[in-house]
Amino acid sequence: KKPVITVIGSINMDLVTIASRFPSQGETILGEAFHLVPGGKGANQAVAAARLGAEVHIIGAVGTDAFGTELLRSLEREGVHIDNVKQVTHRGTGIASITISEQDNRIIVVPGANHALRPDDVEQCEKIIASSNVCVLQLEIPLSVVERAVFLAKKHGVRVILNPAPAHPLPQKLIEQVDFLTPNEHEREILFQQVDANAFADKVIVTEGARGVTIRKGGKQMLIPSFRVPVVDTTGAGDTFNGALAVALSKGMSLEDACRFANAAAALSVTKLGAQGGMPTEGEVERFLKENEK
Ligand code: RIB
Ligand code: NA
Repeated sequence: KKPVITVIGSINMDLVTIASRFPSQGETILGEAFHLVPGGKGANQAVAAARLGAEVHIIGAVGTDAFGTELLRSLEREGVHIDNVKQVTHRGTGIASITISEQDNRIIVVPGANHALRPDDVEQCEKIIASSNVCVLQLEIPLSVVERAVFLAKKHGVRVILNPAPAHPLPQKLIEQVDFLTPNEHEREILFQQVDANAFADKVIVTEGARGVTIRKGGKQMLIPSFRVPVVDTTGAGDTFNGALAVALSKGMSLEDACRFANAAAALSVTKLGAQGGMPTEGEVERFLKENEK
């Protein structure tokens, strides 16, 4: 039986500019290329899980503009259920302005319609949430919506992965309710600003980019190393990790094995341009893991 994953989160159009470097203050430079590709942490995580064979529902909001319509079509093509994405007239579809240079990536997100999502919208999806194996959330939608979704999931005993990105401190009560938190090192710092990180170390999976991820097992820190691959675009690698983690945990894998599986999916995703470009199928991950066993 297919795992059922519900993602409550953002849907963005990514405006990706490739340049050899960033312009300095007041300077104009010529870039090398421009790409318009689907993104948004929620949509990315949903697509990652769908490619890996899960039945995926997304709860979110887009505008009635061309980007919104295009993003809905694209999610549909990926097999993600979009009946619970509302199209709002008073705000534009969320966008991310992404610049990729040889040194690093810089991203500005304009949430737009993503911030028009309301707790009532998730309340209406209680049945879908209750029937899920895992719910996945991030922080590109209002915190009140995240809180309501987590409350509903836990009411029905559904496992919750909260990817605390972009970085934001979270209330202790929310941290207590979720099963897993997946910050990078920077997000981890901010996340626990008002809360004792040690008390929750067992549910924290820290993603450390090319190094891999660390979990705590038997009271000890443990690194689950990543894989070496030719990097084209790291945008969305964390999202691929989260989507894949949800699928792997739904299939009953141990946390350690699930992280290894998700590391492999994330590694494959960075070999192609765009957040969703390069996200692998289940077969591709299995082949990759086999090849990298030796
Ligand atoms: O995590 C990557 C995503 O963050 C991009 O697709 C962009 O839309 C931003 O939301
Ligand atoms: Na990619």
